[in-house]
Amino acid sequence: MRSPATTANLASGFDVFGLALKEPYDLLEVSVSEGRGVSIEVSGYSVPKDPEKNSGGYVALRMMDHFRIERAVRIRIFKGIKPGSGLGSSAASAAGVAYALNKLFNLGLSKTDLVEWASLGEVVAAGVPHADNVSSAIFGGFTIIVSRKPLRVLGFKPPRDLGIVVAVPELEKGSTRLARSVLPKEVPLSDVSFNVGHAALLAAGMAIGDVSLVKMGMEDSIVEPARARAGIVKGYEAFKRLAKEFDAGIAISGAGPSMLGIVELAWRAELSKAMKAIFEGRGIPCQVFETEAGEGVQEV
Ligand code: HSE
Repeated sequence: MRSPATTANLASGFDVFGLALKEPYDLLEVSVSEGRGVSIEVSGYSVPKDPEKNSGGYVALRMMDHFRIERAVRIRIFKGIKPGSGLGSSAASAAGVAYALNKLFNLGLSKTDLVEWASLGEVVAAGVPHADNVSSAIFGGFTIIVSRKPLRVLGFKPPRDLGIVVAVPELEKGSTRLARSVLPKEVPLSDVSFNVGHAALLAAGMAIGDVSLVKMGMEDSIVEPARARAGIVKGYEAFKRLAKEFDAGIAISGAGPSMLGIVELAWRAELSKAMKAIFEGRGIPCQVFETEAGEGVQEV
């Protein structure tokens, strides 16, 4: 099956917004045999093979324990999503495994149940079971986590003209745990109002198919500035200037270090060049994906 890369936050929706991408993606094969336990094989980008340390393996262990599945499960992952890049690499494995086990053992789980299970895999990567990346990996398209307890996810199709650029710098693997540790514990109400206003604008743009509202909604006065101050992303100010000059939305993708750009499809290639130039101008090689919104995890 194919499990997509996802980008979380989109600036104003920290731990709330997620968007599935068409590229890059992971491919997974999950099979069952006699015996007990979980084994993992990995090709492509390297991730841990120990099931307790692999987001997919961790989800499999917890699900098998809960549903009393006494079989051997073999997980083969072709990792096309660079781990620690801010593109939901751990979420893709976790979502893929939750989806596969549901099918293989006829567990009858809903999409929301699958998000709940897959979010356990994020504990391995981030230390907390945040669900924004796994929601869009399961639902596809754009997702909003309305509430966490009980989990309520709303998913809908993004505008057709939504062009997406993701610039993935060749920097050391980013740590979601570290990127969360620099966040403020308390924030002024004025910053909260700013973010709520922009998040509402972005969600409205996604719902009515208006890319200009989505772009305008990609502003954050709480999380991104704290991460930029802590040096977790490179060239943050230059990216924000580019967003204004180019009339694009530009945000840190998830916990970084990748940067996400949103613009009308006709301008995507130019935005891609300009975003690449910002990293390369700082001596940081980078890979750029010019893509669009994608489907959730599915058989191929
Ligand atoms: N919402 C999470 C964060 C996404 O920004 O920490 C991490 O992939």
